[in-house]
Amino acid sequence: MSYLLLYSGENGQTKKIILKITEYLRKEGKQCDVRDLNMDKNFNLSVYQKVLVGASIRYGHFNPAVLNFAQNHQKELNTMPSAFFGVNLTARKKGKDTPETNVYVRKFLAKTPWRPTITSVFAGALCYPQYNWFDRIMIQFIMKITGGETNINKEIEYTDWQKVEYFAREFNALK
Ligand SMILES: Cc1cc2nc3c(=O)[nH]c(=O)nc-3n(C[C@H](O)[C@H](O)[C@H](O)COP(=O)(O)O)c2cc1C
Repeated sequence: MSYLLLYSGENGQTKKIILKITEYLRKEGKQCDVRDLNMDKNFNLSVYQKVLVGASIRYGHFNPAVLNFAQNHQKELNTMPSAFFGVNLTARKKGKDTPETNVYVRKFLAKTPWRPTITSVFAGALCYPQYNWFDRIMIQFIMKITGGETNINKEIEYTDWQKVEYFAREFNALK
């Protein structure tokens, strides 16, 4: 049986993290099915051994598709090994980078009926040149008030790839 890995993102960082985890799992000989949670709607979880969902934050929220998925599949999800991680820029700061201390992941876990076996949170990427005018100004403002990078020509990846690999190992080891 294979593993299902789902990503929900806008600018590619969550997908990049999912693909890194997939690379690790495939090296370990595992079959992985990678799909976009925002595009695909029909999932038959009974054909998978484990499920992993990664989702990014946009203006304080995960895409509603993430909560919908968790609600629609809560029975299967809660009876199989499963994992969830959130991606956001708040997590670039120490003290805001765990499921308990990251406000978005904490709130999501409190709201969803799904109880993932393991959870994590990763810092995402700041890609000013990729944003439209409005998002660039908004993110620059948020960065200014939180003491972050405000140079709109910059692209910075805050993701801790060792932390990602550790999570991939943990997921692989789930029984
Ligand atoms: C329009 C926009 C809004 C964002 N809002 C937030 C936010 O409210 N809080 C936060 O911590 N990060 C926020 N971020 C940062 C993203 O979560 C981060 O860039 C992440 O890497 C995006 O992942 P993705 O490329 O998979 O979409 C925002 C990014 C963008 C572009």
